[in-house]
Amino acid sequence: MSAPAASPHIPVLVDEVVAALAIAPGETHVDGTFGAGGYTKAILEKGAARVIAFDRDPEAIQEGEALVASSGGRLTLVPERFSRMRQALSDRDVDAVDGVTLDIGVSSMQLDQAERGFSFQSDGPLDMRMSRDGASAADFVNHADEAEIADVLYHYGEEPKARRVAKAIVAARPIARTGELADVVRKALGHHPGMKKDPATRTFQAIRIHVNEELKELEGGLAAAEQVLKPGGRLAVVTFHSLEDRIVKRFLKVRSGALPSGSRHLPAANESGPAPTFAGVAKAVRPSDAETAANPRARSATLRAAHRTDAPAWKEGTSR
Ligand SMILES: C[S@@+](CC[C@H](N)C(=O)[O-])C[C@H]1O[C@@H](n2cnc3c(N)ncnc32)[C@H](O)[C@@H]1O
Repeated sequence: MSAPAASPHIPVLVDEVVAALAIAPGETHVDGTFGAGGYTKAILEKGAARVIAFDRDPEAIQEGEALVASSGGRLTLVPERFSRMRQALSDRDVDAVDGVTLDIGVSSMQLDQAERGFSFQSDGPLDMRMSRDGASAADFVNHADEAEIADVLYHYGEEPKARRVAKAIVAARPIARTGELADVVRKALGHHPGMKKDPATRTFQAIRIHVNEELKELEGGLAAAEQVLKPGGRLAVVTFHSLEDRIVKRFLKVRSGALPSGSRHLPAANESGPAPTFAGVAKAVRPSDAETAANPRARSATLRAAHRTDAPAWKEGTSR
């Protein structure tokens, strides 16, 4: 039996993102998370002269080649992590851009293909690597020690019973399939048909974030955007859970001067930090009821946006 086709990825909050990016004809924009190209298409339709789009997933890049071909030279796809956008742009002789957008997390194509190993709803190899390289989820659950697994589940999945789940995982090793891992977690936590949320949800989220270093990437992407945006350039970031949103919210608060920087390098008495690099920090935008009804994946989305001032980018380590 052939694998079911992945459902198309429906872009989330796309009108709101495009509005926040305030695209003017002739501008150059970065789409840090190309996915199925929903944001990129919308940015091109608004008249951007050039979009440089990143995705760490080679499949997303391959699928995007048709859009590159039909873009008349306006779209460049880069198979790279968005945290490395500064170098990738400079390699293409682009020093500064008018807008950067990030749509954090996995795409529907990644989630729906069982063989990518992201989903507890369909059985597949325990993989979860967006970029298809480096250590997989199976490598982690089969080789990490119990305390490290518990830490990951607690911090990245906010799993209150992290120790119990970690113990069950270690006892069940080796674990090769998503279905096996989901069963181990359900048994450890108790699972009743009709439960609102599958008990495996938090564990899968945690391991995915760990395997792909997603929070570190998000911090790196925000710092990279600060470096590549022109004065007046716009940043728009969509996140899907509170761990990510907290990072974006705090970054914009600190970089706009609304919160002391808490620098590691400055004495505690002097926490004012360098000049603000972002201004016009907008209120968080959430999807309408109509969007959530049409696309349940939009349910937990939050958009945050701001524009770049003309102050120099902060040195690394000034914002944590
Ligand atoms: C939520 S989807 C983006 C969907 C896209 N906005 C659209 O409308 O089709 C996220 C995409 O970003 C990619 N991605 C996630 N983290 C990344 C990172 N650190 N660097 C580059 N791409 C990343 C994933 O592989 C995935 O294809």
